Amino acid sequence: MTDTVTREFGTVGVIGLGTMGAGIAEVFARNGHRVVGVELNDGGVERGRQHLEHSTGRAVRREKMTEAEQAELLGRITFTTDMQELAAADLVVEAVVESLEVKKAIFRALDGIVRPDAVLATNTSSLSVTEISTANSSPGRVVGVHFFNPAPVQDLVEIIRTVVTEPDVLADVQALLVGMGKNPVVCGDKAGFIANTLLFGYLNHAVSMYEGKYASREDIDSAMRFGCGYPMGPLALLDLIGLDTAYEILATMYKQGRDRLHAPAPILKQYVTAGLLGRKSGRGFYTYESADSPVVV
Ligand code: NAI
Repeated sequence: MTDTVTREFGTVGVIGLGTMGAGIAEVFARNGHRVVGVELNDGGVERGRQHLEHSTGRAVRREKMTEAEQAELLGRITFTTDMQELAAADLVVEAVVESLEVKKAIFRALDGIVRPDAVLATNTSSLSVTEISTANSSPGRVVGVHFFNPAPVQDLVEIIRTVVTEPDVLADVQALLVGMGKNPVVCGDKAGFIANTLLFGYLNHAVSMYEGKYASREDIDSAMRFGCGYPMGPLALLDLIGLDTAYEILATMYKQGRDRLHAPAPILKQYVTAGLLGRKSGRGFYTYESADSPVVV
């Protein structure tokens, strides 16, 4: 793979410094890349900066990084609200809100800003990478790079190739991620990619099993924890993800792929309508004292 590498990704632009973007910026800065972080406004920049300071500060407290290394890492990141500052970027990773219109506007605007050989990536979790790529005049240089949350911790990155992604773009991005210690996997452009397609089919099945009163929530979760070695059972995991988010992911995948495994179990919609969203609302399949508390009921 390495002898096909044609690009050096010295400077990486990250657009959107929210939950994912700030983590992605940290991953690149940790690995010695210069990072240009772009946000909508000064408030967004400040939140992004704080996120990065907090996350790297935690690494210092856990003695995974020295204070000097933290300062060096943060020194490699510049923050801006001006997309024009991406002119020197070799790679741009877009991590803004999950809206097709917003993402397309960004890929359109990048045309007039970055070099023609710069690679463009989107961190979308459910939108069509192909559709986003067509907003740019060179869709062949666009790939999906789906980092997992939190990006500095999770090793998996799904690389999504569209039918027009250039093979050298794919190879270069793969090599880049491997070089940063990530475990990239490659897949086509289908909602859910690999991990969510498999995971949410399984989670949905667990909900159907519970809904059909085949087994109790505790027994369904125990079976997967103690029988299959999963760190959490499916219903507890759904409460953690948020039942509204899980419903949306399933509905999007079902709409696109019509795989009955992804047809959201009816009770999921009922829970969401009733405001039972999981940990974040205090109640989902289980009841919680607080968002971080262990299950109480
Ligand atoms: P978020 O809402 O935490 O962050 C989005 C950020 O983008 C905000 O800070 C917002 O100010 C900024 N933004 C919006 N429009 C912008 C623009 N035009 N220019 C610059 N910045 C702009 O969202 P989150 O969770 O970080 O998600 C970002 C992307 O990552 C989405 O596509 C999402 O589907 C995907 N994703 C999310 C995961 C998660 O667990 N949250 C996991 C993997 C992918």
